[in-house]
Amino acid sequence: GHPHFGDHAPAQGISVDLLHGASAAAAGGPSRAKPRVRRFTLTAQPATVRLASGPIDAWSFNGQVPGPVLRVRQGDLVEVTLRNRLPGQSVTVHWHGYDVPSGEDGVPGVTQNAVAPGQTHVYRFRAEDAGTYWYHSHQNSSVAVPRGLFGLLVVDPAAPLPESEDHVLALHTFGTRPTLSVDGAAPVEGLARLALPPGARTRLRVVNTDTRPVVLGLGGAPYRIAAVDGGDVPGATDLDGDRLHLAAGGRYDLTFTVPSGPVLLTAGDRPALLVNGPATPPAAAGPIVDITRYGAATAPPARFDQEVTWVLDKTLAMADGLPRLAQTVNGKAWPNIPTPVVRQGQTVRIRVVNRGTDTHPMHPHGHHVRILSRNGVPATGLAMDTFDVAPGEVWEVALVADNPGMWMSHCHDLAHAAQGMEFHLAYE
Ligand code: C2O
Ligand code: CU
Repeated sequence: GHPHFGDHAPAQGISVDLLHGASAAAAGGPSRAKPRVRRFTLTAQPATVRLASGPIDAWSFNGQVPGPVLRVRQGDLVEVTLRNRLPGQSVTVHWHGYDVPSGEDGVPGVTQNAVAPGQTHVYRFRAEDAGTYWYHSHQNSSVAVPRGLFGLLVVDPAAPLPESEDHVLALHTFGTRPTLSVDGAAPVEGLARLALPPGARTRLRVVNTDTRPVVLGLGGAPYRIAAVDGGDVPGATDLDGDRLHLAAGGRYDLTFTVPSGPVLLTAGDRPALLVNGPATPPAAAGPIVDITRYGAATAPPARFDQEVTWVLDKTLAMADGLPRLAQTVNGKAWPNIPTPVVRQGQTVRIRVVNRGTDTHPMHPHGHHVRILSRNGVPATGLAMDTFDVAPGEVWEVALVADNPGMWMSHCHDLAHAAQGMEFHLAYE
């Protein structure tokens, strides 16, 4: 789950017995009683995505890109049957940012075998952490995710949110064609539109499903970043015309009150979503918020049980007698990067140093990390699961080892992962 310092109770430590409701009361805690089971089927299959500029041969879940929005309530048991009907391509489902038990993490070769064409696999986890997440295949992911094997996952909190309008947006680029999908509908290549009642408190859950970061702008209304990577931001302050840097794989929940005039969301300086047109407000052009310093500061952990450093770089390595670009961690590429080993309950400080010339959205599975500092400047301590380390930057983050298992950690520029920037994180 999200890190809770000073509280090292194992999160997500659910067993199959509990999943089937056996002795729920005996397990203690009201949240263990009679969970509602939500069942979904995701069928990986070819699909044609029709964009204004022409069709795309996509890979999809259930014939649609993005796949269906899986929207559940905190406390639900989620059971997802994956069926593979994709000729010649194995698949899995990884729950990006949702810290499931290790066995449900959907990483082929680590937590399961890839699901071959014609086969099925069932995932089960309990939705304890409210927030905005997404899912995608983790097999051949540098090809499969850009091609469409992804969808959105929203866990609604047990107590209702103050926003009466709540919409989830996927920003995705097919080849060179950027699109926006609203609430899982077919992606729109030009300007997507949304009509909202003036005065309505609104939450836009923005998910970057691309392998590159995007600069977002919200013009026409003051807004807040209510949540980052699924977790609420304590003390979120008003922004007006400020722009945001959203890492590949990252999510921001933006909240605002619908004004009498229009609101415009831009993505990479492209108008992406117009709320209550036809007039278009000026695009946000303010400074880019430093997300590491946003919100109210929370106390950092009092001590660290272990210190780890990841130096990110790239090099030419010989492969099959030819020089090939390798993206490296501590000078090594997959599968030669040493596996960091943690013990349950430890708090680990990770120093991430980018000595290369590319931005690396680092994504440890199964855990959120608290951002401690960026380039030596103390951070407010937000929990993130995908944080973007630019060339020359040094980030310090804290990982609480509260989710035992064998985990993947990698750069979410998925081409970089395929070029070697991925490694395991193990529990002893
Ligand atoms: Cu979004 Cu290892 O993945
Ligand atoms: Cu990278």
